Formats: sequence, structure tokens, C-alpha cells
Amino acid sequence: MLSKQESIDLRGKLIGESCQLFFRKNPLKIVRANAQYMYDEKDDAYLDCINNVAHVGHCHPAVVKAGCDQMSVLNTNNRFLHDNILLCAQKILSTLPENLSVCYFVNSGSEANDLALRLAQIHTGNKDVIALEHAYHGHLTSLIDISHYKFDLPGGVGRKDHVHVAPIPDTYRGKHRDSNKSEEELGSMYAEEVRAICNKIQEKGKGVCAFIAESLISCGGQVIPPNQYFNEVYDAVRASGGVCIADEVQVGFGRIGKHWWAFQQYDVYPDIVTMGKPMGNGHPVACVVTTKEISESFNKTGVEYFNTYGGNPVSCAIANAVFDTIETENLRENAVVVGEYLLDNCQILSRKHKVIGDVRGVGLFVGIDLVKDRETREPNPKCAKFVHQRMREEHILITIDGPHSNIIKFKPPMVFTKENVDAVMSTLDRVFKEYREKSELFEVNTTRMPGYVTDGKSTKEHRPIKALLERSNIKSI
Ligand SMILES: Cc1ncc(COP(=O)(O)O)c(C=O)c1O
Repeated sequence: MLSKQESIDLRGKLIGESCQLFFRKNPLKIVRANAQYMYDEKDDAYLDCINNVAHVGHCHPAVVKAGCDQMSVLNTNNRFLHDNILLCAQKILSTLPENLSVCYFVNSGSEANDLALRLAQIHTGNKDVIALEHAYHGHLTSLIDISHYKFDLPGGVGRKDHVHVAPIPDTYRGKHRDSNKSEEELGSMYAEEVRAICNKIQEKGKGVCAFIAESLISCGGQVIPPNQYFNEVYDAVRASGGVCIADEVQVGFGRIGKHWWAFQQYDVYPDIVTMGKPMGNGHPVACVVTTKEISESFNKTGVEYFNTYGGNPVSCAIANAVFDTIETENLRENAVVVGEYLLDNCQILSRKHKVIGDVRGVGLFVGIDLVKDRETREPNPKCAKFVHQRMREEHILITIDGPHSNIIKFKPPMVFTKENVDAVMSTLDRVFKEYREKSELFEVNTTRMPGYVTDGKSTKEHRPIKALLERSNIKSI
């Protein structure tokens, strides 16, 4: 094996510089992984709070076996009949609403979203796409064009004419965040922004092609869109001739626990759903699911859809094993129980550390929003950077994201345990204390705690916290 320094040097020479490493000054060399733990070249373990791709746990034996077994028998393209692709399609469709009944298998989330856009264009005959501020949908040119997270960077390609950016429906630090309004009212206010874009497109004599959004917004900062938002947006987009695409590449496959797909918690029916990352537990396999009508429009073009690796027997054997493992190991239930425990403990932490402005999440998708001041909600990227680095030194891997790089993200493998949460929380507690001691500028307004734990008016009030606070003997600040 190359020494770590040799790896760093060779990587510098051989791999494109824009492929960035975590912890660039002292990157991690990970040589093996198991369940929710990763091991470096010295066999030191790191607790993985960030790899949502290793959904059922790194190197899960059932998934590895399914891939190896199928690889030793056959791997070829899907122009031959094979059972694995059919079993996989059946499993996927059994988790979705009935209107979504046709699958296309691809190799990555980017391919899935690119095909979704192509289907939408063909079906509607329109070009104009509405996407969200700070959204990321993939690395293909078509997707960089609609990903504000990338095209709006100083060196980015800028906004193309067919792309329309709607405000991120973030009720904590977005455009609409009036605490006197209910969640539904805020949802309607954000939806109105999309309706206005639809109207503008129509005023120009055009129709909408598609509205695309993650059902929970990850790169935008672990944002949970308010109720009513998607319902009204979907109505407006359809009334303007468009279709609605739910990007479930990050948040699907039961991460939120109570549903297989995050859009299901909003009781909406997308026209196209894209899925990827967790589907292969690290193996590249992804899928687009759509309606019979959209699929028929595609078919009517007479142009064959061929994808060399999409839906091959090995990929589908692996995806089937992922599905089975989620079910046999009750990982959705685990996401509910451990996710709730994580959220509750983050709330407890927020009572102790004023730098925590908001805690939000569903299942094993949780974010902590760090602020300089709770009243102004000014983001605190400096603290986030400090915490990120210190947690790594403590062998706990977290990520920081959001437009201001101030959101601590948790999206661990679904086998994460309450003991893991305890380890993360006690370490975070210590690290926040260190930050407070180090930071001379640390002075925040404590009069009001926004987010879940508030004056009781908030629709986001989080009930289990009371019992936990009593149990843990922590007084509210
Ligand atoms: C929401 C979302 N959609 C799509 C993609 C693209 O997926 P991939 O990197 O597998 O092409 C990503 C990747 O991070 C993503 O986060």
C-alpha cells in the first residue's frame, strides 16, 4: 500500500484538482469500512455520520454477497431478458403511489435527473425549468445549468434563460420566516413565489416544462420545506403545463423513517421521481420512475433509450439486496427511533450552547444551524469550521453545508445507534464549550430561541424534548 504521503503526492499529480478532498490540509486515507465505521491506514476507526450512500451500512455482507454472486454468473446489458431488473422494478413500484408505474434504470443521480428533464421536455413540449435557490441536482451540463448551488458560484456558468430560481422554502433563514405565521401560511407564501414564476413564463407565451426539487433540501442546508408548499406548487406548475419532479437521490429509500420517500410526508404525487445514491449502497445504480403517460410520450418519439450499464443484473441484484436489508433489519423503524433521539439530543444541546440557532430534521436527516446571534440569525461559519475539524480529531465525521457553510449535517448510515448519538452529542458538547472558551467574540442574544424550541407559538414545537430535558436535568437558558 502507498504511504499516506505518497497517496497525497500522486493524487496531486494524477487527479484533477477540482476533485476536492475532505480535510484538504490533512486528508483522511480510508482503507476499509464496516457498518457505520470507517478505518484509516493505521486501522483507527471513525464514526461515520455523513455517508448516506452506505445506506444499510458500509460493506453490508448481504449486499456484498448479492453483488459477488451475480457477478460470478452473468453481467450484461438490459437488452436481454433478466429477472433482477424486473424484481427491482417491482420492489420500487410497490413503495410508490400507483400513478408512478414505469421505471428506467441508470447509473447515477445525475443520469437520473438528466433523463427526468428529457422526459419532461418531450412530454410537455416546453423548455423552462423551475428549480430552487441553493439546489444541487447533479454534475451533468444539463444539471449544472439548473443547480443554483453551482451555476451561481463566482466561477459558475451563470443562469441560463430557460432556468428560473425560486426561493428556498426555508422558514428559519429564508425569504419568508415570520414567526407569527403558521407553517401552512409560510408554505403558501413560498408557493406563491413559484406561482409568480409560472405566470411570468406564461406571460411570455410559453409553458412550464418542469419544477424540480429535493423533497427535503440537503445542499441548501438540511431544510425541511413547510407543509402546504409542495401541494400548492404542484398545482401551479401543472396549471402552467409543467410536470413535477421529486429528486429523492439523497433523501429516499426510507431515510426519513416513516415513509419510503420523503415526498410522501407532504401527501403529493410527483410525475417523476429520481433515486440514486443509497440504492446501491455504494455501487452505482439509480432509477427514474414516471407515469405511463410520460413514458408513452417518450416512446412515441421512436428514439430508443439505451444505457449500457443501467439496470444490469449485478446492479439490480445489489439494489434488491439493499431493499431486502432495509426490510429485514427494520432500518426504517431504526431511522424513526434513532432519528428522534438524535433530534431530541440536539435540542438539549441547543439549550446549553447559544451558538445553535436551529435544529431541524426528519428521521436520520438532521441539521444544526450555527449562528452568531439567535435574534439576527447571522450564520456562524467560523464555528462550523472549528467543529468540523475538532470532530474529525475526535474521530467523528460530520459535514458542513448550506449557502453560508454553517449547517452541521447528519445523514449517517441507517444502522446508526442511540449509543452513536450519545458519543456524538457528548463530543459536540465538549467541542462547543472549547469554541466558546476560545472565541472572544462569543456574545449572543439569548432572549429568544428560534426554531423548534420557542415561545410555544411556533408550529415546529418539538414535544418529546420536555421529557428529555427533565430526564437529563438540563435547564432551559
Ligand atoms: C439531490 C441530489 N441529486 C442528484 C445528485 C447527483 O447524484 P450523483 O452524484 O450520483 O450523480 C446529487 C449528488 O450529490 C444530489 O445530492
